[in-house]
Amino acid sequence: MSFRIIGTGMYVPPKVVTNDDLSKIVDTNDEWISKRVGIKERRISENEFASEMGLKAAQQAIADSGINPEEIDAIFAATVSGETSSPSMACMLQNGLGLSCMAMDISAACSAFIFLLETAAAFFGLHKEYQKILVVGTERMSGITDYADRSTCIIFGDGAGAAILERGENYLDSVISVDGGDSVIKIPHTVGSCPWFTRETESPYVHMQGQETFKYAVTALSQDVTTLLERNSLTMEDIAWIVPHQANKRIIDFAAKRLGVSKEKFFCNIEKYGNTSSASVPIALHELAKSGQLHRGDKLILCAFGGGLSNAACLIEW
Ligand code: UT7
Repeated sequence: MSFRIIGTGMYVPPKVVTNDDLSKIVDTNDEWISKRVGIKERRISENEFASEMGLKAAQQAIADSGINPEEIDAIFAATVSGETSSPSMACMLQNGLGLSCMAMDISAACSAFIFLLETAAAFFGLHKEYQKILVVGTERMSGITDYADRSTCIIFGDGAGAAILERGENYLDSVISVDGGDSVIKIPHTVGSCPWFTRETESPYVHMQGQETFKYAVTALSQDVTTLLERNSLTMEDIAWIVPHQANKRIIDFAAKRLGVSKEKFFCNIEKYGNTSSASVPIALHELAKSGQLHRGDKLILCAFGGGLSNAACLIEW
């Protein structure tokens, strides 16, 4: 049982922070960031939490699909930078939309949007009465970024992306891999104030081994795309677009080279938003859909990688 995507939405906060702005607070410069990462600017929230950005993206996806919000049977959401651990992000969105449907979060960092799609596909199979599911990835990465660390603060940005899924047959295949551990990417919580707990708090920001992540990402991305093509007897000629997680333009370029495919096949908007973690794939998908370059019947591969470590990709027909 699967679904088709009938609407998309996105929201980014209005505040633009350029590479030059960051060079005033850490030892970096526009040339290094543009060349090594491909980012020119990112959006940073001044007064909105992740749930508020997610709600705006969800409302846009609902409007885009033309459905009545009451038709939504379930909400699945993802975030690593929500303002509360409880309620979950999905519960916050359900409340914001004034709905009473089932709602829950999936945690898979930057790969999470594909985990949300996978979960939705499973729920369409499990609940025959479900017709429509809302999926949302929303992040205020600026809240978990150390603005004294030049290797991470230049990367992340804030934003939200959403999609409305309707029972259908267009989620064709998927691959999901997890290699659990915290040595490469970690976002610790504080240990709290329990007087008997003896471990020290680590700073509650993104800790990332950049080069390790880079290598993992290039391999994961190219292997996942290859698996989907081979398993479905397709070639790159059959694929209209690859929509990758926007983490580093060089990761995309390296993966394109490894796959022997033109970089133009990969939709890329990292220069405007940086890495918005779970929001990056749905934001990219929304921008691609609205650009007029995507047509019903086109085959797409969405792919992502990140904390966990986790990586995932799916083949869909638009
Ligand atoms: O979405 C979650 C998944 N995350 C990712 O996919 C991120 C993957 N990793 C990356 O995108 C890259 O590894 C980074 C952007 C994080 C770093 O780029 P890099 O090309 O791997 O740089 P590096 O860590 O190898 O550092 C090279 C040099 C170092 O200087 P020395 O030791 O050679 O003198 C760094 O200190 O670049 C320096 N450097 C910087 N220089 C100017 C690191 N960050 C900066 C900076 N500006 N912002």
